[in-house]
Amino acid sequence: MQFLPRPGTPAFGLLRPSGSSAAFAILLLTATAVGATSHYDRIQCLGCHGGDSREVVDPETGERRDVALDMARYRHGAHRALDCLACHERGFRSFPHNAKKPLTCMECHPREEAEGREATFDFRRWERQFKDSIHFTRHKKRFNCGECHNPHYFRVAEELGAPPEIIDTHNRWCLRCHKERAGRFPLSNPADPDMVGAHAWLPHTALHLRETRCVECHTSNAAPVSHDLLIWDEAKRDCVICHSRDTVLQRTLYRHHPEVPARLGFTNTAVLQDGYVMAANRNRYLDLLFYLVVGLAFLYVFGHAGIRWRRRRRGLSGGGGRQ
Ligand code: HEC
Ligand code: HEC
Ligand code: HEC
Ligand code: HEC
Ligand code: HEC
Ligand code: HEC
Ligand code: HEC
Repeated sequence: MQFLPRPGTPAFGLLRPSGSSAAFAILLLTATAVGATSHYDRIQCLGCHGGDSREVVDPETGERRDVALDMARYRHGAHRALDCLACHERGFRSFPHNAKKPLTCMECHPREEAEGREATFDFRRWERQFKDSIHFTRHKKRFNCGECHNPHYFRVAEELGAPPEIIDTHNRWCLRCHKERAGRFPLSNPADPDMVGAHAWLPHTALHLRETRCVECHTSNAAPVSHDLLIWDEAKRDCVICHSRDTVLQRTLYRHHPEVPARLGFTNTAVLQDGYVMAANRNRYLDLLFYLVVGLAFLYVFGHAGIRWRRRRRGLSGGGGRQ
């Protein structure tokens, strides 16, 4: 069955090329005549899946679902240049098409022709690591890359910009399932979904969960991006992975943010841009001042003790003479 977008649907507003709508209508007709071009396909889909909200009701369960795409976010995503049918390849031209399967990440990636940043991504290693994780070993049928990475809106860390934005985005991927007891998502772990409770050993728990990424403690960090999942007693609880001069944050979260020239003698200056992290942000001059003060204190104590000792010895030998 062929479906055409209704004039006046949000799709027309969203994708109308410059020029009058009459010219656009002609363009549409031409596109139909020559056999749908890919640009035309996207408009078809958006006729029903564009706009603010497109709720559908399952006739059997009565469950409501929103099948609308947020095109503003789509246009910022890694796949903004792709047409809907690139992934929704099979079965989406006919209707209904809700039981059809789109292509998954690993069916396209790694792409041989990829260049630049994408070519440096280690898709195969990440897939191996993911397949060894409890997410996959226990939930093979349901869990795939798409549970964390929505192909419509996914953006790489470098594109996300500032680290606070990266923390927010990456943690949101996990919190989608690990947030609250009555999780909305069918894969939520009913065992202990209260994050603050599960991390009560960590001081300032809420602050840490907000200002650091889950993956900092729940992956090995063997490479800047890892998809292995450390669970239970494997997960890291050492303060020094972050609170030390050799902080992991500089290698992972801040990997696209090289150190800015050391001003006033601070270490890990990129990290310092977003807040002070004890022991990671050390100050050379303060350290020197500290050593100096401690040094002087030692000098004072030992010097004083030395003088007293010599005085006593002198006093003792003098006293012996008098006896
Ligand atoms: C005539 C309107 C219409 C057009 C055009 C249309 N769809 Fe749909 N689509 C729907 C409706 C309605 C549903 C929900 C069906 C259901 O759940 O029974 C749906 C469901 C889907 C789903 C599954 C959603 C889910 O969660 O189950 C996907 C994926 C999808 N469409 C992709 C596309 C793509 C890609 C195109 C363009 C090639 C497209 N659709 C064109 C109306 C349309
Ligand atoms: C990079 C691949 C890719 C592209 C490009 C893509 N999709 Fe999808 N889409 C998917 C995958 C994978 C799913 C299944 C997600 C899931 O099962 O959770 C999906 C799900 C959907 C759904 C179901 C509801 C939802 O949001 O999960 C709709 C509707 C949909 N796509 C429409 C579109 C439309 C319209 C376009 C073009 C503007 C498009 N898709 C482009 C991969 C893609
Ligand atoms: C239909 C095949 C297809 C599927 C499925 C697909 N991609 Fe892509 N992906 C592409 C293409 C093509 C590009 C290059 C786009 C461009 O150059 O504008 C790309 C680009 C990328 C990039 C590089 C973006 C950048 O900013 O450098 C990443 C990362 C990526 N995809 C990850 C994923 C992930 C994660 C999934 C699964 C959720 C996925 N892809 C699914 C085809 C696909
Ligand atoms: C449990 C959630 C989860 C699953 C499942 C998952 N990822 Fe990721 N992925 C993440 C997180 C979190 C990051 C950010 C890691 C980082 O930047 O250190 C990430 C980062 C990425 C990146 C971007 C790297 C960058 O520089 O921004 C790509 C590409 C990617 N994953 C692909 C995949 C592929 C392919 C799969 C399936 C084989 C997959 N992911 C499965 C959570 C997941
Ligand atoms: C789609 C839902 C979903 C997403 C997204 C998700 N998880 Fe999970 N996660 C689960 C489920 C379900 C389990 C329970 C596995 C089991 O025991 O059967 C689990 C287990 C875990 C465990 C094991 C500990 C325990 O007691 O259950 C850790 C740690 C964990 N996830 C961390 C993460 C991190 C970090 C992220 C983000 C990178 C993430 N998860 C993303 C669903 C999810
Ligand atoms: C400072 C390091 C650290 C950070 C940050 C962190 N975790 Fe944990 N997490 C741990 C450790 C260690 C444990 C094991 C606790 C235990 O044994 O009681 C744990 C336990 C868990 C569990 C299992 C709970 C249970 O009782 O079964 C889940 C799920 C989990 N974390 C998810 C997350 C998510 C999601 C985030 C990000 C919002 C996150 N963690 C951030 C270190 C951390
Ligand atoms: C994953 C990295 C990470 C780990 C692990 C970690 N911290 Fe932190 N911690 C941070 C960051 C980042 C901040 C700065 C938060 C902010 O104020 O922006 C911080 C802040 C703090 C603060 C200051 C809180 C405040 O009110 O300003 C204390 C105290 C602290 N951490 C103690 C600890 C202790 C003790 C441990 C080990 C049990 C620990 N942290 C483990 C990253 C970490």
